[in-house]
Amino acid sequence: MTDLSVASPCRLKINGKSHTADLPPCVTLLDLLRERLDLTGTKKGCDHGQCGACTVLVNGKRVKSCLILAVSIPDAEITTIEGLGSDGHLHPMQQAFIDRDAFQCGYCTPGQIMSAVALLEEGHVRTREEIREFMSGNLCRCGAYNGIIDAIEQVVSQQLQNRAGEAA
Ligand code: FES
Ligand code: FES
Repeated sequence: MTDLSVASPCRLKINGKSHTADLPPCVTLLDLLRERLDLTGTKKGCDHGQCGACTVLVNGKRVKSCLILAVSIPDAEITTIEGLGSDGHLHPMQQAFIDRDAFQCGYCTPGQIMSAVALLEEGHVRTREEIREFMSGNLCRCGAYNGIIDAIEQVVSQQLQNRAGEAA
């Protein structure tokens, strides 16, 4: 039987920086980020995989970090909300959330944005209904859903315009 108190080495790349820590196997990725690395942009809501507040990217895919044990993903590349922008600029999805008033209290927002960034890569953005369906793992108690979908549609439309500009 695994001894949950025995630490083992864990190496992860988070927002482009390598981190190594000795961790007990019971530490979730969410608790590693928030409690040990001070990356508190990723939020803890339910801690049971139901609200999406803790969404981050692991090797480019969105995951609920409260459901993943840090030691189970050795050498993974993690992106959190803190690592999304670059060179002092917001990521287009972050900007779109501001432009479209896509939040109220903001607690769910980091998870919504990380999920939305992954959604674009997944390509499930053809209609508002499709966006709504594929964002359904991220709950917003303030009910900012219409603004969230508007924000995602804004980025989709920017991407289409950029591609059209490149092709012209
Ligand atoms: S805190 Fe992870 S899904 Fe709610
Ligand atoms: S903005 Fe408050 S929970 Fe979503």
